[in-house]
Formats: sequence, C-alpha cells, structure tokens
Amino acid sequence: MAHKIYLLPGDGVGPEVVREGVKIIKAAQAAFGLSIEFIEVPGGALYYKDHGKDWPDGSFERLRDDSDAILLGAVGWPGVAKPDGSLAGGSLVLGVRFGLDLYANVRPTKLYPGVRHKIHDSFKQVWEPDKVDFVIVRENTEDLYANTHGHLTRGGVTEVATDVRLITRKGSERVIRFAFELAKRRKGAISDGKKRVTCVDKSNVMRGCQLFRQVYDEVATGFAGIEKDYAYIDAFQQWLVRQPEFYDVAVTSNMMGDISTDLAAVLQGGMGMASSGNIGERHAMFEPIHGSAPKHSGQDKVNPTATALAVVQLFDYLGDKKGKKNYGEAARAVEQAVADVLREGKIITYDLGGTAKCSEVGSAVASRVGAR
Ligand code: IPM
Ligand code: MG
Repeated sequence: MAHKIYLLPGDGVGPEVVREGVKIIKAAQAAFGLSIEFIEVPGGALYYKDHGKDWPDGSFERLRDDSDAILLGAVGWPGVAKPDGSLAGGSLVLGVRFGLDLYANVRPTKLYPGVRHKIHDSFKQVWEPDKVDFVIVRENTEDLYANTHGHLTRGGVTEVATDVRLITRKGSERVIRFAFELAKRRKGAISDGKKRVTCVDKSNVMRGCQLFRQVYDEVATGFAGIEKDYAYIDAFQQWLVRQPEFYDVAVTSNMMGDISTDLAAVLQGGMGMASSGNIGERHAMFEPIHGSAPKHSGQDKVNPTATALAVVQLFDYLGDKKGKKNYGEAARAVEQAVADVLREGKIITYDLGGTAKCSEVGSAVASRVGAR
C-alpha cells in the first residue's frame, strides 16, 4: 500500500517550496521504487481570511487518521490575525504539533561545503565547512507555547497579560531521551569526535528549567557512552557562534529552541538552509523553518534547500518507521544531491549569492536524485 504524504503548502512562499519538495520526492520515488501518494490540504492565514477558519473541517482528523508523514510549507500573513490573539492558520503548525503530540522538534544545523555562512550578511566569508554539524532538539508541546495564556485585565495602564511557562516531567523526559537516542546514532562532535548531549536551560533562575535539568541528569544515566554537557541559554547563544564544532546534540525547551535555532541557521547559510522535523510516537511533520516570507512570495525566488533537507528528514523518518531500507537510501541520495548542487555553486538562489530561481534549484536537485 502506498504511503500517504499529506501536503500543507500554507501561505506565501510555502506553496512554492512544497512544489519543489514534491518534485524531489517524485524523483526519488522513481529512482528508489518508493510507493507514495500525495494528498494536499489547503489552509493557512490567507485561507482563514477568506473562510473564517484555518482549513476545511475534518482536516486535522484526516492527518491524524490517514497520514504517514506531513510536509508543511509555511503559515502566516501580515495583518491577518484571529480576534483571540492566536496565530491565523495556526492549526496547520501549532495545532498539528500539539494535536498529534509531536513532542520533538528536530533541527539539524549543518554547513555544506561551498555555502557561505551569513554572519555580517557577507558572501565573502567562507568558513571551513567542517565546523558546523550539530542538531538542536527542541521540546515541542509545552513551555510558553502551551495553551495557558490569558489577559487578567484589559485596557488602560493596568492591563496585564500572562503566558504561563509549563514544564512537565513527562514532556522533558521524552524529548531528552529522544536527544540521547539521536546522539547514539550520530558520529559525535566535530571538534573531538565525542558523542555529547548539551542540556540548554536557564536553571540558575527558572524552576521549570531546574526540573528539565534534573530529568536530563536522570535520563543521562542510561546512556553511558554519551558525554553530559550543560549550558545556560544566554551563554549557549554565544558559544554556538564562537565554537559550533563543540556541539553534537543540544536539547532544550520550546521557546529557547525556537530562538536558538534561528541563530543556528545563520551558521549554515541562513534560513533558506534550515529544515525541521516535528516527531511524535505515531505521526510526524516536516518543514522548512523560514516561514511564509511575504515579500518574496510569488516570485519563484526563495531557496528550496530547507524543504529539500526536510524531505531528507522525512525519508529518514519513514525508513525508520516502516523498516524500509530504500527510504534511507533515498534520504542519502537527496542529501548528496543537495550537497553537490551547493558545492558546484552554479544553481543557487539569491540568498547564497546566486541568481537561480527556486524551481531551478528544485529541478537541479531532483535531476541529480533521478540520475543515481
Ligand atoms: C518555528 C516558527 C513557529 C514557532 C511559528 C510559526 C509559530 O517560528 O517553527 O520556529 O514559533 O514554533
Ligand atoms: Mg521559529
């Protein structure tokens, strides 16, 4: 039976990059004999603007009951908001993360050879490519993102709003375990080859972080070959930039992970390179982390590499989940095709210093996958 990949193109550049993702998946499908069916679900902030709801009724249930994996483009549009303050189109991203309990948000940060990092927004600086290859695992179902927001009073100088930072033992335990399991399968940090899981928190101040760190220590006892490491979030931000080669896997809470993964993207060539997997026990959703980029949308201009790398994560997930080796092979082929296109440096988008269109990069990656 075909595996069902649900597509949520969403807003802005979302549909443009998802189109390229599908192109690449189809190339891999032919080359590796994968059996995949695509089902597209409309939705997003602009859908909300037109229909007064994020997506057609029953969409969440279809994802829950029928998807083998989900590929999301991006959600959000300036000036479109819900009256209660929640994100217009948010059902497609936060709704799916929470609703399907996708507790681990896995964000690989790797600088491929030939890609310039984005520090100073200069294309002149080429870092040694072998300085950046780590993964941030972000807790994805609690913290400041939990639905524990409120207004205590409205209007006037005494107005008060709250976002409660919810951290649980269960939520911490499962994401920390996920991070250690991931470290077990990786090759270790670039600087010294050691497998390492860094616990990123603010446990010198926050109670939830103290619980998180305590659970980290407990889980770590079950992983003898993996080095323990701690960093406060503020220091972590600077160490990431100063010494990225020290990091292998870092695990952190939701909001801290949201912030530090955008910073980390700078080390891999920018947001156009950064992919993400939202993974739970029974479902998973993959996405580029750049968002809907309204000012670039409709121009076939943005970098589809983040989506191509999300496809790599999706294939690896299906390979693990379904026990099918050809998905793993397809994942390696897509990653290699991405790396080749980047190293050749001829068909790259504006953000990397090139002039190629989004669709040209997608086709270049797809044709290399197909040629294998
Ligand atoms: C991300 C995004 C989302 C988040 C937004 C779109 C809700 O910034 O995936 O990092 O905050 O998690
Ligand atoms: Mg973010």
